Amino acid sequence: MENELQRLKAEAEEALHAIGDKAALEEFRVKFLGRKGLLSSTMKQLGKVSKEDRPRLGKLANTIKKGVEELFQDKKEVLESSGGGIVEDVDLSLPGRSLPFGKLHPVTQVMDEICAVFEGMGFAVAEGPDVETDHYNFEALNIPKHHPARDMHDTFYVSDSILLRTHTSPMQARIMENQEPPLRYIAPGKVYRCDSDITHTPMFVQVEGFLVDRKVSFADLKGVLSSFIHRMFRDDLPLRFRPSFFPFTEPSAEVDIACVFCGGSGCRICKRTGWIEILGAGLIDPEVMKMVGYDPDEFSGFAFGLGVERIAMLKYGIDDIRLYYENDLRFLSQF
Ligand code: DAH
Repeated sequence: MENELQRLKAEAEEALHAIGDKAALEEFRVKFLGRKGLLSSTMKQLGKVSKEDRPRLGKLANTIKKGVEELFQDKKEVLESSGGGIVEDVDLSLPGRSLPFGKLHPVTQVMDEICAVFEGMGFAVAEGPDVETDHYNFEALNIPKHHPARDMHDTFYVSDSILLRTHTSPMQARIMENQEPPLRYIAPGKVYRCDSDITHTPMFVQVEGFLVDRKVSFADLKGVLSSFIHRMFRDDLPLRFRPSFFPFTEPSAEVDIACVFCGGSGCRICKRTGWIEILGAGLIDPEVMKMVGYDPDEFSGFAFGLGVERIAMLKYGIDDIRLYYENDLRFLSQF
């Protein structure tokens, strides 16, 4: 009898230890602690033991039963506090915690859109170096040393002859030098000028474009740029070509669109003119053609350059260019 009780105790302890869910615990209870369970039926045998042994064995049986009951209660509490078992209360079909998605920067988005519009018109995309030589940035574009146009560029110099490009126009010279017409290219990229206020940042993004072939005229330039502007903004947006000057184009023009803030009636942003300038353009100057070895009597071409931040500002109604580069997620996540 004593051995039997000790064996039951060991068996019960081992069984409890292995239990991991409520159903198994209930099975345990019935098997060991129930009215017809193993402990009860063993205790019923007490009546058959000798009178001398009965008190001692009875006491032992009670202690063992109490011990097992306590262990059972402990296990029950553990299972309840852990949610009643490992598997049954975990809903594996619930979605996980979502992480915030990253997005393309608004300037990148608009740049991609600009490139897509020109690619749709058959322009190829080329990229060039941010660190440029004085030759490609200025000389090859008909801006010799001491030319007053250099003053407009607020250049960051690396050395006497190396600088951070102030515009993407050097790509005209780089590409024309290495290829024969017909050519149709756009060159997007970062440019740098020592300038900072609500309409200028020291680094900004431009897209240069040019086309060279036989008999290219100003009408071709007007057609391509009008299509571009109407695709970027809206089909019926008024625009105008206004005479201007650039050393690398002749004739030169600046293109204005009807002010997107006031609709053309005049406001603070368009300085009451009703027009906003969005790009520079012109027919490629014969001097630039000669410098890359083209015969200006045989070939002609047009070129244009635009600022991507500016186009994005007009598209989204943003009035301070510096917002793009302050990395404030409340601003950036709107696009
Ligand atoms: N490179 C000029 C600038 O940064 C923009 C420009 C004007 C480019 C006229 C052109 C052009 O190709 O024809 O201000």
